[in-house]
Amino acid sequence: MDNDRILRFSPAERVAHWVHTASFFTLLLSGLIVMSHKFLFLSALFGGVQNARIIHKLAGVVFSFGTVLIFVLGDHKAFWRWLKDITTWGKVDFDFLKEFPKEFLGGHANLPEQGRFNSGEKVNSLFILIGGALLMTTGLMMWFADAMPLSIVRWAYPLHNLLALLMAAVVIAHMYLGLLHPGSKEAINGMLRGTVTRAFAKAHHAKWYREVAGEEKSK
Ligand code: HEM
Repeated sequence: MDNDRILRFSPAERVAHWVHTASFFTLLLSGLIVMSHKFLFLSALFGGVQNARIIHKLAGVVFSFGTVLIFVLGDHKAFWRWLKDITTWGKVDFDFLKEFPKEFLGGHANLPEQGRFNSGEKVNSLFILIGGALLMTTGLMMWFADAMPLSIVRWAYPLHNLLALLMAAVVIAHMYLGLLHPGSKEAINGMLRGTVTRAFAKAHHAKWYREVAGEEKSK
């Protein structure tokens, strides 16, 4: 590894992220076909509507269980650290959230120093975690509808669709930040190569950078 780069995401974190992404988009596209006839034109991508239904279920299993297994079995320390990071909130996180809309819209925000994840990323992670769990639950209710009371299955349909569309909106904002936003373009290297420049780490995650640099010195 270049001396001017530091490790941000381990291989297991990266594989889990991209398997999650691939299964999310497979779910979104196949789900739109099942949701409304307006999207029937997408069925060619899956070789017909019946195939799209089968692929939707398989992708749901990968999305809900596969990615968690890759993450936990591949790097359980990183998994627990991520859970701890995203559920630990202090004043600095709320201060960041207040300023973040300015940064998102390309202005100059007065952002406080951040740890490994800023609070926007924590909100993203929590949304994906809770939204994903609810999507999975409502999906399983529809899948095994015969074993469920009808009144519950009736609620599962609109909830599942609403959650999927909300999640798609969050993922689009997340992709904008990871791929196009001028301030965070280096972030994508963390998810592709595993490393980011020290300059990026210092500018965006100063508290985390000091911890990592301290560990490097003491080795
Ligand atoms: C092409 C699509 C995507 C791109 C370019 C992308 C990009 C990234 C990048 C660059 C990071 C690391 C940010 C950092 O350094 O902290 C990240 C983290 C993350 N991504 Fe993605 N991502 C994509 C799709 C998705 C999807 C579909 C999901 C979930 C359904 C997702 C969930 C997450 C989560 C939970 C994190 C950790 C928290 C965060 O950093 O926001 N990503 N992504």
